[in-house]
Amino acid sequence: MRSYSLIACAKINLYLEIIGARPDGYHELAMVLQSIDLADQIDLRPLSTDTIRVRCDHPQVPQDKSNLATRAAELMAAQFSKAFAQYGGVEITIHKRIPVAAGLAGSTDAAAVLVGLNLLWQLGLTQSELEELAAQLGSDVPFCIVGGTAIATGRGDQLSTLPSLDHLYVVLGKYRSLTVSTPWAYQTYRQQFGSSDVADKQSLKQRAYAVHSGPMVSAISHKDGVQIGQLLHNDLERVVLPAYPQVLQLRSAINSTGVLGAMMSGSGPTVFALCETHEQAQHVKRTVRAAIPDPDLDLWLARFCSTGIRVF
Ligand code: C5P
Repeated sequence: MRSYSLIACAKINLYLEIIGARPDGYHELAMVLQSIDLADQIDLRPLSTDTIRVRCDHPQVPQDKSNLATRAAELMAAQFSKAFAQYGGVEITIHKRIPVAAGLAGSTDAAAVLVGLNLLWQLGLTQSELEELAAQLGSDVPFCIVGGTAIATGRGDQLSTLPSLDHLYVVLGKYRSLTVSTPWAYQTYRQQFGSSDVADKQSLKQRAYAVHSGPMVSAISHKDGVQIGQLLHNDLERVVLPAYPQVLQLRSAINSTGVLGAMMSGSGPTVFALCETHEQAQHVKRTVRAAIPDPDLDLWLARFCSTGIRVF
């Protein structure tokens, strides 16, 4: 049986609106998600025993059952027990390049495990079947399978694909020692801004419709980077920026370099700058580095991309 190597892209949020609290403890969201080519590599090697083993070279990534990639493999083994018994276990090696707890969908590794095991065990699952399994692992995981540019509603798992935007670049900045807990960010938002329950299906439909026909989607359809930059929006900035002054400072430093726009991604603490060209992105990266010489600050340059999980 052959081994597989997969590329799993990170994502940024171009738009994140919290519509309200859900009875299941999650929040009803309206988001626009974008894949970028900052990516992890995941290798799947068949084992002759019925073991699921995860290895990772990154000290912050657990190698036990708390790793979402392990949970993805266990979910597949439970759902497809005959294939698991027939083909045996798997060794999953994660080459981590996407920073951890950064608001960039590190859970993309779990998406890669689903796609990889579908191939390794010859299950023949469709993309929507994989998305359903992915939603059991985390709200961002279905998007990581599909990738590209998409509207995400519901918990973040209901996707509508948008036209591809792969001509834009981002500079990402994150303090290595700084992580933000996603549950904390949502809970604090709920406490501070009284995100009330949304039981009314009709108003939910209207909100989702408003995003579909809203200015951000129109700007994306026209591939208008200037407009997209002006329309960047993330409700979670309202709780994360006041609590983490370093992130606010980084956002201001990036914004003052004349970029199309700058914003925190997801629950942070990564801040990204939207750039029209590779040259502009290089210039922004150099300028931010000169303005904040702190060795704890990591900077990356990435390009928008239109692919989800792909075989390497
Ligand atoms: O779905 P996932 O496990 O990635 O979500 C992490 C946390 O983010 C959840 O436990 C929840 O606290 C918060 N969250 C939320 N509403 C969403 C998505 C995530 O409150 N739609």
